Amino acid sequence: MFARILTFVTLAAVANAYWTFGGTPILVQTRLDSIVSPGVVSSHVHAVVGASGFGPNYDPDQLMQSKCTTLSVQKDLSNYWAPQLYHRDQNTGQFTAIPSVFNIYYLPRPGPKNEPIKAFPKGLRMLAGDTFRRTYNASSFEDQAIDFVCLTPNGGSDEAPPLPTQECVGGLRAQIFFPSCWDGVNLDSADHKSHMAYPIQAYNGGDCPDTHPVHLISLFYEMEVAVQQFDWHGPGTWVFANGDTTGYGLHADFQNGWDVDLLQAAIDQCSGESGDLLACPPLAALYDPQAAAACVYEGVVADEPTGVDAPITDLPGCNPVYNSGQTCPSKPTPALVPVQTPLPAGWTEVGCIAEGTSGRALAALSTTAPNMSKDVCASFCASNGYTLAGAEFGDECYCDNALRNGATGAVLEWDQCSNRCAGNAFENCGGSSKLTLMSHGGNVARAVRFAKDAA
Ligand SMILES: *[C@@H]1O[C@H](CO)[C@@H](O)[C@H](O)[C@H]1NC(C)=O
Ligand SMILES: *[C@@H]1O[C@H](CO)[C@@H](O)[C@H](O)[C@H]1NC(C)=O
Repeated sequence: MFARILTFVTLAAVANAYWTFGGTPILVQTRLDSIVSPGVVSSHVHAVVGASGFGPNYDPDQLMQSKCTTLSVQKDLSNYWAPQLYHRDQNTGQFTAIPSVFNIYYLPRPGPKNEPIKAFPKGLRMLAGDTFRRTYNASSFEDQAIDFVCLTPNGGSDEAPPLPTQECVGGLRAQIFFPSCWDGVNLDSADHKSHMAYPIQAYNGGDCPDTHPVHLISLFYEMEVAVQQFDWHGPGTWVFANGDTTGYGLHADFQNGWDVDLLQAAIDQCSGESGDLLACPPLAALYDPQAAAACVYEGVVADEPTGVDAPITDLPGCNPVYNSGQTCPSKPTPALVPVQTPLPAGWTEVGCIAEGTSGRALAALSTTAPNMSKDVCASFCASNGYTLAGAEFGDECYCDNALRNGATGAVLEWDQCSNRCAGNAFENCGGSSKLTLMSHGGNVARAVRFAKDAA
């Protein structure tokens, strides 16, 4: 939390309970933006966190059917995103996506009138910042709402609006504060901003203007970027996905997937003054970091390299690096493709099951492969004549026609199988002594019966 917020709280003497979703992992990095570019490939790559049902379009009812979220409270099925930050190699000119996590703050920030703080209405989406900004206007709240914290040696930090022009050995935080005053009518607007406004006194708190009288909870993101994992070679080392090297073009998006009553209860009952989620009783009851860690994206991505797995020569979408004189080749717009591969014909996923108590649940045949995924495992077992397949520890696959060695086939909570498949990080392949079980032709009932008979 940065000093300016705390200063404001002290001066205004407002209620200062708040909560944080700290260290939230990225769900997907791709050229999608369901607010600004619905239904199509967006202009630049975003780092997205939150609900697994994210996709090219926002439909709140559908989003709230998501299987899971990368947030530690599984009932917040919202999505939060910002442009991906890249490292640009000074010798090769290649770009690598820098790993990041999001810290998401929910802050009640009323002004002197002490207006009631309201939950985000169902269907609300909004944008903060402007991808086209390359200069700073010190009297604009929208510009003030964006800045960067550079963690320097000896635990120090520098905070300023532009991207730092110095090395940040402890990492970098890109910070953005959303407007909190709503017009009370529109869930969106043509520029995705006009239905919202910053408060009268300050971007991060105060009374709402008459045009936007409903005071919502304030949303603040820190994108914590591990820049220290890469060489620093002066200004221009870091480039946002939109080509911005100044930082003034940082922006962020939010689409609401909260149960509105739950969010309001959290706002009304949260008592922690240091951001501790567990001091918010309605949220503490739903705290589930295991599900958050196991959660994988279920949708589509733009079919192109993004610099996440290997360096790339151009920023996706032809976004030339600002002021570099560099051009970029125009490429055809990539297709949107699903990240998960369907199982072979006739196969279905049963769920996550425990290994046998006296040996392997599936003991007839096994393999290990760096390209392991659920379909690779099922195909391997199918081609060897087996009707049950189980993926485990990310890269292992076991086959059989029956469950053995005390395995019951009882389906466990899905998040017990939290290992990412070695060949597809958007699929889960088992866990510790747990199998992601797949079956051909409904063999499982028979397999479970066999296991019981043998017991
Ligand atoms: C700077 O922001 C203020 C407040 O929004 C605005 O009135 C002013 O026109 C802006 N200046 C420029 C040069 O855009
Ligand atoms: C996975 O790798 C194996 C060799 O290890 C290969 O035979 C198989 O075709 C690959 N499967 C896919 C889907 O790439």
